[in-house]
Amino acid sequence: MKPEVEIKHVYRTSYRTHMCGDLSREEVGKEVVLCGWVDSVRVHGKLAFINLRDRAGIVQAVMNHKNPFFKELKNITQETVIQLKGKVKERPETQINPEMKTGEVEVEILELKILNKAEKLPVSFKKEVYPHEETRLRYRYLDLRTPFMQRNILFKNEVVKVLRKYLDLKGFVEVETPYLAKSTPEGSRDFLVPSRLHPKKFYALAQSPQLYKQLLMVSGFDRYYQFARCFRDEDLRADRQPEFTQLDIEMSFIEAQDLMEIVEEMMKQLVEETLQVKIETPFKKIRYSLSVNKYGTDKPDLRIKGLEIVRFKEPVEGGKIVLEKETINELLNRETGKMNQKLKEIAERNRVNLYLFKEGEKRKEFIGTSKNDSSPRKEMENSTSILALGERENVLKALNEARRVIAYSLDLLDEEKYRFVWIINPPLFELSQEDGKLKPTHHPFTAPKRGEEALLEENPLKVEADAYDLVLNGWEVGGGSIRNNKAEIQEKIFKLLGLKRDEYMERYGFLLESFRYGAPPHGGIALGLERLVSVLLGLNSIREVIAFPKNKDGIDLLTNSPTKAPKEYLREIKWVTHLKI
Ligand code: AMO
Repeated sequence: MKPEVEIKHVYRTSYRTHMCGDLSREEVGKEVVLCGWVDSVRVHGKLAFINLRDRAGIVQAVMNHKNPFFKELKNITQETVIQLKGKVKERPETQINPEMKTGEVEVEILELKILNKAEKLPVSFKKEVYPHEETRLRYRYLDLRTPFMQRNILFKNEVVKVLRKYLDLKGFVEVETPYLAKSTPEGSRDFLVPSRLHPKKFYALAQSPQLYKQLLMVSGFDRYYQFARCFRDEDLRADRQPEFTQLDIEMSFIEAQDLMEIVEEMMKQLVEETLQVKIETPFKKIRYSLSVNKYGTDKPDLRIKGLEIVRFKEPVEGGKIVLEKETINELLNRETGKMNQKLKEIAERNRVNLYLFKEGEKRKEFIGTSKNDSSPRKEMENSTSILALGERENVLKALNEARRVIAYSLDLLDEEKYRFVWIINPPLFELSQEDGKLKPTHHPFTAPKRGEEALLEENPLKVEADAYDLVLNGWEVGGGSIRNNKAEIQEKIFKLLGLKRDEYMERYGFLLESFRYGAPPHGGIALGLERLVSVLLGLNSIREVIAFPKNKDGIDLLTNSPTKAPKEYLREIKWVTHLKI
């Protein structure tokens, strides 16, 4: 989003008059004072060129050997911070650099002052081969200076501005909610904060503002939003951090459709304003069960053309993806060995048998895992396909991965860059792998689909939720639902989840109580800001859009946290005496 008027002068301070990257023909003839980092120094005979960089970009500054500051050059190492005074000049036609934003001008140096000399950098960020991620995180302040990271962080800032502007226009109110909170179940472990004033007691860092935003609806705020930091102690992946930001939204007197329309319009505006790409609304809606059966996942990448899963039940559970003959040939030719290896890994990871059939050749190629499984039947073989046999869930997972590997490596994606889709009506409950008990698919405050409340008693696993996930190019960028606003239904759900009355009253009594004093119908959503920004920029990891992320082991390599707590602190919170550690 460009500011309405470009105002170069807002950057004027006691140190400088302009930003390096803002200079253009408009400033020709003017005397300017610039500050920044030395991106490079080159000496060509009697001329020295300094590329000076700040957030706005790079400008070339020049001086000749007669300049009294020429002798300073020996102290000007790469990344030294300098201030220079100079005159903006037009570059001769032959020296114009179209690659540079400021390529039509250069600054003739009149004065130069070193503000902070940089020592030799521990690692170069200018090489073609970027340093390893662990090194980048260790020296994050250097990494953040690179054009790549500057772009990512500044883009995220633009995204936040557009979202705020949109929500403001639609009457949403930004309200802060506590971080030091009571446990909010979002399916992860809590980070606990011991209370000094109440030994043995803990706050939980909010996994999300879920309960507070519902209380804000009960309080009559009608439309709420917040860029909320959330804290979840879970295993990390490319798309997960222990702390992250949600654009958290809640609305009163709505149905799911109202919320979806708001989000669609907001996404449309966002993509158009920040990337100048038009997207179609309304977004496609796919029922959860259909998505899982067709794509093997509830996060389908709709850019993938075709390759839908066909499922079988006999002789064992199985499914296949039918491929064009040319596709398979191309796959096997272009990626000799590589593709087979990738598919083999998929088979092993998901404990299924994978076979590859070529129509007409009557040949099946076994890819992995164990040959002992029953052999696929004739009717499964009559096409060029990849076939998976195994348990239902594993087959679907494996075929989802296979679809992605094939589509991404052969570029079987349609031209539309951003494919949003709503995945709607997942089951309200699923069975926990650990103890076989019911657990909420989303969180326990999600309402059953209207009309299915009666099924809660009869067959809770059959009940669908009035919930929706927003998926973009195969990433879950958001999730939300219509909530229970009646205490009876909410209590029934707690009971189905195996909570006794005193347990759920202790944890959520305040919410149930609030529902008894006038709670409007309400619902909402939370969008993962880092995920959204990463997908929009086509990045593979959310760490690329977070200034100071944790690595995959949850460590901040720059500050080296977490660390041990000092003994006095543990004594003060009475950790030692009470917990006998
Ligand atoms: P949910 O848990 O689905 O819903 O989270 C919403 C969105 O937040 C993002 N997200 C994450 N991003 C980075 N790191 C993580 N560890 C992480 N966990 C989640 C995802 C996800 O879609 N209170 C509900 C929302 C609601 O019902 O309104 C909630 O938090 O993009």
